[in-house]
Amino acid sequence: MRLDKFVAQATGQSRSDARKAIQKGLCCVNGIVCRKADAQLDEQEAVTLGGRPLSVQQYVYIMLDKPKGVVSASSDARDVTVVDLVGKKYPRRSLFPAGRLDKQSTGFVLVTDDGAFAHDILSPKHHVPKSYEVLLDTPLTQTMMDAFAQGVTLADGTKLAPAQLSPGTAGPCSASVILHQGVYHQIKRMFGVYGAGVNELRRTAIGGLELDAALGAGGFRELTPQEVEKITQQSLQAQPDSRG
Ligand code: URA
Repeated sequence: MRLDKFVAQATGQSRSDARKAIQKGLCCVNGIVCRKADAQLDEQEAVTLGGRPLSVQQYVYIMLDKPKGVVSASSDARDVTVVDLVGKKYPRRSLFPAGRLDKQSTGFVLVTDDGAFAHDILSPKHHVPKSYEVLLDTPLTQTMMDAFAQGVTLADGTKLAPAQLSPGTAGPCSASVILHQGVYHQIKRMFGVYGAGVNELRRTAIGGLELDAALGAGGFRELTPQEVEKITQQSLQAQPDSRG
């Protein structure tokens, strides 16, 4: 990484402020003053600014409790995005949501700048499970539960992977769903095959990781290294198969 980028990321300064500090001679690399903003750093090199050691977290992983009305995108001309909600705290990161929730759905969205991590947890080959709480406009039936377990065929002929559907805790119209793939509007379309509409949809877990109930709508926090590891392990353990 370039020195000015490193200093900017480690301190939260803009690149131009970082460059000025470097040019003033405030920055040392391995104990020697370096005034070259474009100097390339190796991982093991020690950088200080005004004598203070600097370090950069390579990637960030943010758990967000998405409220209704917010879109799962990095930017949008009309609507507030998940990156608008978290991005002010990370002005120099190229954040994006690792997976989508519909505008009116709520709950767990992972926001990151780690493309390889996002690819792994979203890859259909890895089947990282995602858990949802659903409120239907009609009571849940045994027919629906059996069909989800077999793998629902959508109206357009798409045959989906088996999913787990069980009664929820908020009355006969509530349900819990665990999906192992991510098809556009998947849950709404699955229930639609059985004439049921989805009034509320909330994602409560990704992989083995539950949404932190303390966050509240619009709340977010970084994952701990252990939590990142937990999700990564889930995506490694999930076996690729013919469902692709
Ligand atoms: N399925 C849906 O229909 N919508 C979501 O937001 C997520 C899964």
